[in-house]
Amino acid sequence: MKTNPEKFGATPHQPSLWTRADALKVRADDPTTTQPLVRADFPVLNNDVFIWDTMPLRDLDGNVTSVDGWSVIFTLTADRHPNDPQYLDEDGNYDILRDWNDRHGRAKMYYWFSRTGKNWEFGGRVMAEGVSPTAREWAGTPILLNDRGEVDLYYTAVTPGATIVKVRGRVVTTEHGVSMVGFEKVKPLFEADGNMYQTEAQNAFWGFRDPWPFRDPKDGKLYMLFEGNVAGERGSHKVGEAEIGDVPPGYEDVGNSRYQTACVGIAVARDADGDDWEMLPPLLTAVGVNDQTERPHFVFQDGKYYLFTISHTFTYADGVTGPDGVYGFVADSLFGPYVPLNGSGLVLGNPSSQPFQTYSHYVMPNGLVTSFIDSVPTDETGTQIRVGGTEAPTVGMKIKGQQTFVVAEYDYGYIPPMLDVTLK
Ligand code: FRU
Repeated sequence: MKTNPEKFGATPHQPSLWTRADALKVRADDPTTTQPLVRADFPVLNNDVFIWDTMPLRDLDGNVTSVDGWSVIFTLTADRHPNDPQYLDEDGNYDILRDWNDRHGRAKMYYWFSRTGKNWEFGGRVMAEGVSPTAREWAGTPILLNDRGEVDLYYTAVTPGATIVKVRGRVVTTEHGVSMVGFEKVKPLFEADGNMYQTEAQNAFWGFRDPWPFRDPKDGKLYMLFEGNVAGERGSHKVGEAEIGDVPPGYEDVGNSRYQTACVGIAVARDADGDDWEMLPPLLTAVGVNDQTERPHFVFQDGKYYLFTISHTFTYADGVTGPDGVYGFVADSLFGPYVPLNGSGLVLGNPSSQPFQTYSHYVMPNGLVTSFIDSVPTDETGTQIRVGGTEAPTVGMKIKGQQTFVVAEYDYGYIPPMLDVTLK
């Protein structure tokens, strides 16, 4: 891990680099950083919908929060189409894999509630049809603002473009359940600028999404993490000594790794309400290493900043690889320098025998890690699979200094509250 002094000039901080040398340390199937096998006979939360990215209701300090004893999660959600002729194969059978793979184009924000932090009951859509300005409602964060139940939902409005937006509403509880009211006016916050963060014009495969607002425990100010790519025309990035890091002889060739340019972005709010934001240079870049650092989020522990982000095997650059899963970095101050956890960055990856079993891991401050089931093999050869679209078993993890350890496994979709707010 290095910092890059040239790239961003006179800025408040230098991005930390996840180097190729760091990534060479990734070891799939290390039991301390591998998610236990997910069984093929998993239960499905709801057979009418696919769910994937899961966003627990939380406060600005990161604590998962229930209201009047009700836990609440938001999920990216899409209808399943078992009877739609478009998703039948030539034998007239439902091609669930194709339906699942198409889900991103029709993703909508839904919510669920529970008395027990699992066995989630269906709430419904957060915003009515037509409220969100674009076709896709992509990942973000619901923040409980106060004991009046006000919620700011930060999310990504995608296609056309990719804009970080927010919409305010309220969570209302009764003895019988939870509802979301309001969520009627979407406020655009910002989009990629082309100087620090890559735009669609610079790269049709750009990423700019997944806002995660937080209050810095040290300076008390309001910031936001998000996923980005480093600005510049596709193919123009340099994978130099800093990006390569300290590699052994024979590992200097970077191939076509200049096409992989992921970064973790950060913005600071100019106002207390988080309506006015200024983008800052990335906290972390992965040029020459990986093209996606998705859903970045923090755990603040022992006075340190634990930065987590999800990534895929298929987004790694030439000459480096790792499992689908969650990666992490740690620093003593918000702006770094960040050091990869476990040497490599890998925190919780899929086992190589089931490389797509789960994704979109979210590490909570209590060490619990939630994720969704993507697909699990149902035979020895891995040619037959069962598609998930539902909550995975929660994993328990210990974070100690610069290391992490898998220590427990819990029930499917277990997301217990860390504090409860009684609404006034
Ligand atoms: C992660 C992710 C997010 C994005 C969403 C789109 O699973 O790729 O980065 O917001 O899914 O469906």
